[in-house]
Amino acid sequence: MKTIIKNALIYLDGKLERKELLIDNKRIAQIADTIFDKADQIIDAGGACVFPGFIDIHAHLRDPGQTHKEDIKSGTQSAAKGGYTLVCAMPNTDPVTDNIASVEYIQLRAKEYGSVRVYVIGALTKHSLGEEISEMATMKSGGIVAVSDDGKCVQNARLMLSCLRYAANFDIPVIIHPEDYALAGKGQISAGKVATRTGLSGIPGLAEEVIIARDIMLAESAGAKLHIAHISTARSLQLVREAKERGLPVTCEVTPHHLVLTDEACLNFDTNTKMKPPLRSESDRLACVQALNDGLIDCIATDHAPHADFEKEREFDHAPFGIIGFETAFGILYDRLVKTKVIELSTLVDNLSKKPAKVLNLPGGEIKIGVKADLTIIDLNASTTYTKENILSKSKNTPWIDQTIASKVMYTIKSGIITYKDQ
Ligand code: DOR
Ligand code: ZN
Repeated sequence: MKTIIKNALIYLDGKLERKELLIDNKRIAQIADTIFDKADQIIDAGGACVFPGFIDIHAHLRDPGQTHKEDIKSGTQSAAKGGYTLVCAMPNTDPVTDNIASVEYIQLRAKEYGSVRVYVIGALTKHSLGEEISEMATMKSGGIVAVSDDGKCVQNARLMLSCLRYAANFDIPVIIHPEDYALAGKGQISAGKVATRTGLSGIPGLAEEVIIARDIMLAESAGAKLHIAHISTARSLQLVREAKERGLPVTCEVTPHHLVLTDEACLNFDTNTKMKPPLRSESDRLACVQALNDGLIDCIATDHAPHADFEKEREFDHAPFGIIGFETAFGILYDRLVKTKVIELSTLVDNLSKKPAKVLNLPGGEIKIGVKADLTIIDLNASTTYTKENILSKSKNTPWIDQTIASKVMYTIKSGIITYKDQ
């Protein structure tokens, strides 16, 4: 099957170029001013941009076990609507993805029902209880791309060292959710003025920073690859900077919400501003934006964390942590940071495509001849209103409900097949 994308601005090496693109047999076959081949399908992009399909290395698809929040079908449809063509599924499912049978379950479901490619992240410890190393070597033979206890954090440094040594043996990257439980306590939002004003208990930045410092030291000693999930404070970034300067294989990601929101968003007690790590101060947010701009941050990841209305519509203290992210990631960042000239469009696109691919050594992330045609077509001049009705995720827990933002995903294409089309 041959498809030609016409009337488009194609993102090539960081620049938009008015060209046409031919997809032949699932792959990008030609990029030229005019393509003369006969095609089975022509997509008129209407002057919109063609970007590499986005890649999210941190998502919670909730399948198996919590399919009232999300499942592989709804989660990947939601991802395709956001322009994604590949997502990595975190293992905090029920049961926890800590063995090869669970890994294969996700792979099979994704093959059958997935609108995007799904790569599996296996648990770091059995049942993610932080007590015993998981069967990560077997899971690696089954195709996992990393291990993590995300949502939880191994508190015991001795066990963490063993996990890192074991992972290093099999060259498996370890993704950490840095949180010292004693320091975080029963905190609900970031410690600071807003916590004081609202009477909500605070989670200090230190709860994140001490674990990052610890795990950088442990990973160095173990010779392991360490990736830090959802980094959120200036001091955490400083620790990563020092580790990178010493040449250690340490990488980090930031979420869209930590780039555009602060703890001020929690003042109205909206439980869709409650997540881990919590929204931080303006100075922390600015540090994250600067680190994105100067390349210290390795990629943007959504931490798409669906929770049902009945779970979120509770007193703030009792609501679960997390917000959905696939459908708003590009739009919110384009609207708030690119349009306002805080970051370049290429910084946003690269941090959603080729840079996350590099962190976990995943396929895709660039538009070039010969690669699988994983693409998203986005109209930067249109706008999108996020409503409960048009969100494709099963869950609607986002602080951006009913907001209109610049840009609209028109199509998402995986291996040459349209996986999402704007109606
Ligand atoms: O807010 C969060 N929600 N942070 C996490 O680390 C886990 C996630 C979830 O699974 O709900
Ligand atoms: Zn996490």
